[in-house]
Amino acid sequence: MQPLLQLKKITKTFHQGEQCVEVLKNINLSVNPGEQIAILGQSGSGKSTLLSIMAGLDHPDLGTIEVNQENLATISQNELSRFRSKHIGIVFQQYHLMRHLTALENVSLPLELQRTVEPSKKAREALHAVGLSNRLDHFPSQLSGGECQRVAIARAMISEPSIILADEPSGNLDQKTGEEIMGLIFCLCRDRGQTLILVTHNHDLAKKCDRTVILSDGILVEKSAQEA
Ligand SMILES: Nc1ncnc2c1ncn2[C@@H]1O[C@H](COP(=O)(O)OP(=O)(O)OP(=O)(O)O)[C@@H](O)[C@H]1O
Ligand SMILES: [Mg+2]
Repeated sequence: MQPLLQLKKITKTFHQGEQCVEVLKNINLSVNPGEQIAILGQSGSGKSTLLSIMAGLDHPDLGTIEVNQENLATISQNELSRFRSKHIGIVFQQYHLMRHLTALENVSLPLELQRTVEPSKKAREALHAVGLSNRLDHFPSQLSGGECQRVAIARAMISEPSIILADEPSGNLDQKTGEEIMGLIFCLCRDRGQTLILVTHNHDLAKKCDRTVILSDGILVEKSAQEA
């Protein structure tokens, strides 16, 4: 089977004044279509940096990222944006919704960018799938945290991407709402055969994934079945 996502020898160092922080050291990871992978690691270990690199939002110093056999390093910025909006859905801890757009407009946006026909019809369906048919015209400031995250999930899923990258999607929510949101993400990904890469601090959530990898001292190690 061809991997859906392949990271080869990813290295990333941040420079802040005199200080150098070597966050990722020679990271390799292969993810198969439909697989669900959890990334665990202490705060500051580089999980969000790694996820941003997978999404092509940040660039490694060395190494390659292939998604659907497309090398993200060799495509232009414009093509990269189009590629990302079609193939990769991203859910962030802080939702990252557009403040001045309604729920419906936020979810339609990726399709507008792709010039898809009937974006708002598809966005309504996506909002229905996350249980928000009655909040279409609300702005993010008029929605609860859990509702904002549902909008963000609908937006991430709207283009039917093959891969969902989720960075602590329940980190900002109370326990019950967080569990609902995670249940929704797992359920939608399984129903649609989407690959899920989930950054989390929660070991119980990680256990629900097919595989867990741990980022520590810049190195990614596979968690064995005995440790799980
Ligand atoms: N733009 C940047 N400039 C300088 N240093 C950065 C930058 N972005 C991240 N870092 C540093 O890289 C390290 C990894 O950050 P990152 O956000 O990837 O960690 P994380 O594992 O996601 O942490 P958390 O669990 O707290 O979200 C941190 O020490 C951080 O200070
Ligand atoms: Mg982070």
